[in-house]
Amino acid sequence: MDSKKTFYLTTPIYYVNDVPHIGHFYTNVAADVLARYHRLRGQEVMYLTGTDENSQKNVQAAEKLGRTDIQDYVDEMSSRWRETWTSLGITYDGFIRTTEDRHKKAVEKFWQAVQDKGDIYLGDYQGYYCTGCEAYVLESELVNGKCPIHKTVPELIKEKNWFFRLTAYRDKLLAHLDAHPEFVEPQSRRNEVRSYIEKFMADVSISRESMKWGIPVPGDAKNAIYVWFDALINYLSGVGYGSDEAQFAKWWPADLHLVGKDIIKFHCALWPAMLMSAGLPLPKKVFAHGFFTVGGEKMSKSLGNVVDPKEICAKYGTDAMRYFLLREITFGGDGDFSQDRLGERYANDLANEFGNLVNRVVSMLEKYCQGKVPAQVSAEPSLVASWEEYASAMENLEFDKVLSQIWNGMITPANQFIDKTKPWALAKEGKEEELNRVLYLLLESLRQVAWMIKPFMPESSDKILIQLNQDLNQKFDQYRTWGLLKPGTVVKVSLPLFPRLS
Ligand code: MSP
Repeated sequence: MDSKKTFYLTTPIYYVNDVPHIGHFYTNVAADVLARYHRLRGQEVMYLTGTDENSQKNVQAAEKLGRTDIQDYVDEMSSRWRETWTSLGITYDGFIRTTEDRHKKAVEKFWQAVQDKGDIYLGDYQGYYCTGCEAYVLESELVNGKCPIHKTVPELIKEKNWFFRLTAYRDKLLAHLDAHPEFVEPQSRRNEVRSYIEKFMADVSISRESMKWGIPVPGDAKNAIYVWFDALINYLSGVGYGSDEAQFAKWWPADLHLVGKDIIKFHCALWPAMLMSAGLPLPKKVFAHGFFTVGGEKMSKSLGNVVDPKEICAKYGTDAMRYFLLREITFGGDGDFSQDRLGERYANDLANEFGNLVNRVVSMLEKYCQGKVPAQVSAEPSLVASWEEYASAMENLEFDKVLSQIWNGMITPANQFIDKTKPWALAKEGKEEELNRVLYLLLESLRQVAWMIKPFMPESSDKILIQLNQDLNQKFDQYRTWGLLKPGTVVKVSLPLFPRLS
């Protein structure tokens, strides 16, 4: 296990042309699980998220609403994003907005460093620009003259632009991928990135002419800096680059950038090349997750199937939603979101298997032992947690594997153990010693399950630990040891963890 004292992870910064949907929630939940896990391990964590505000998409959205004060619009939208994450229990440590002064200063400093390196030059550009992508689309990529992703006709733009000498970094990027295969994950994305760098990567225009919205090019104020060049720098400005160098030295390089698969090229080609040019170390890893469909269809406003995470969490609970998203879909692959499946998993995995187990065990203790934890016994192999497996799957971002290990390795076996040992029969027959042994094994196993699920389902974990009368603020090295549940501790049954849905 990596024993570094700090852990810095990021999500993409989101455009504020609309409110968050479950695709965005998914990234922030995954990041939140990791942030909580690393904090539980005793590391100091910086979890950075934020909003990408200098995009033309935001301007168009504001104009559509008849808003003329763009800054006022992005201020309002950015606080809505922030408030959504807070209300859904996302424990970000930093929030960066690209219209903040600290960010603008960082972008200017960065631009200067790249210019000093000789990697910025002036050139003429003609190409098809898609505002949906905030990128030029090659003529060969158009389908019937339209952007293949956004299905809109891109604008033909001819202008004098500043260029970044991306191709000067081709060999260095390829060498980095070879030396650090863990830099891009999953593996399938690494192949995609490699082939893009080898075959398609070209110098990139990093300014737009006469833009009214955006960060001005230093020394050429009538041009604005290309929004992706600006946005990527959030990962630096969010931790002090250009404003607090001690803070920056503490956190950079990032341990992990979590992104969606659609923005992998920006993060695995343009971004590392920008950093190489500015003489800064590269992030350790970029991990790309897949895309969501809803009931088998692409989520889109026009189809009317955009899922609001607040609504779903209000209905099923945030913990259940977090569990579902990370259990149902292999992280890194594509997946489908269906309320039917969510309902099934809620009823089966959560209410029947898990919630019932907690309730059964604690109630039996109340009934047969006056709610007092019996004498400690040594572990029963079928009910013991493998913290090594847990840590290794967690650190490989195999969330579905972690959760199925907990269910298949602990929760289901604990339910089977009750059915097999029949504590009610032991009580009736007066087999007190055996009854106490069975109950201790179950309680201690539950205590460990509570710690294992804590990053995924923090509220449910706390509810169990409170029933078991445990200190909620222990660190990894303390709580994973078998037998920490002290004999005599008073345990109290409480309301069901996952009540029946009305
Ligand atoms: N602003 C840029 C990112 C700049 S990071 C320096 C951007 N913003 S976005 O709001 O359009 O998208 C943010 C993230 O949401 C992307 O990682 C994207 O992959 C993800 N998702 C958007 N729709 C999604 C789904 N339907 N499913 C899963 N993730 C989705 O791109």
